Amino acid sequence: MENLYKIPRHIAIIMDGNGRWAKRRGLDRIYGHREGVEAVERAIRFAKKVGIEYLSLFAFSTENWQRPTQEVDAIFSLLVEYINLKIPFLKENNVRLLFSGRRDNLSEHVLQAIVRGEEETKEGSSLTVLIMLNYSGRAEIVDAVRKIVREGVKDIDEESFRNYLYNPDIPDPDLLIRTSGEERISNFFVWQLAYTELYFTPVLWPDFSEEDFLKALYVYQSRERRFGKILDE
Ligand code: IPE
Ligand code: IPE
Ligand code: MG
Repeated sequence: MENLYKIPRHIAIIMDGNGRWAKRRGLDRIYGHREGVEAVERAIRFAKKVGIEYLSLFAFSTENWQRPTQEVDAIFSLLVEYINLKIPFLKENNVRLLFSGRRDNLSEHVLQAIVRGEEETKEGSSLTVLIMLNYSGRAEIVDAVRKIVREGVKDIDEESFRNYLYNPDIPDPDLLIRTSGEERISNFFVWQLAYTELYFTPVLWPDFSEEDFLKALYVYQSRERRFGKILDE
């Protein structure tokens, strides 16, 4: 029962269901992404309020390039718009923004916004928001192995391997939330989820409210994390 009332240090979210949210309203998928941005701000406020240290948000996977160009472009312009617009809000709330994922095929425009967002919020010390962009868990592992090979490292263990991942200083997620009713990982954190508690909810991401977030926290607090051990009664 030691977990009761415990606030997870790191929550990761697969923000899914924007397209379906729009479709149900007879709108273009883009409107779902637009509404999804509001839900991001809500989640950041909530995470800060309850004292979560790290919030990772899966925003765009390496597989999402396979969507129509029009949708991909709209997602990236929303992102750039959001970063530029929300820097003051993030700074006021002492939030540090970080981006994780491959940067090689991002446009100059997107790269500039990312660098600016990170730079302007680097003093934020109450909550770190990690936006996973052009990210996939397998790509991250392969990138780590490439670095290891390049450096000619001859021996590796789990702890030293971690140092080659994108964000070695961020602890593994305690809780993963996926919205929209899908119950899969979709190539999100692959290495880091080894002992994460998983929570799936049918709520579509644009509808994900403070109350829904709180519900996920309650469920997390009722779980017994054993990490392979036997806990004393
Ligand atoms: C999640 O919503 C956002 C991204 C993947 C960028 P979706 O766009 O996947 O929404 P659904 O799953 O089609 O409803
Ligand atoms: C996962 O959602 C990626 C993000 C939320 C960014 P998808 O909608 O791409 O996942 P699948 O295709 O349903 O597995
Ligand atoms: Mg989806």
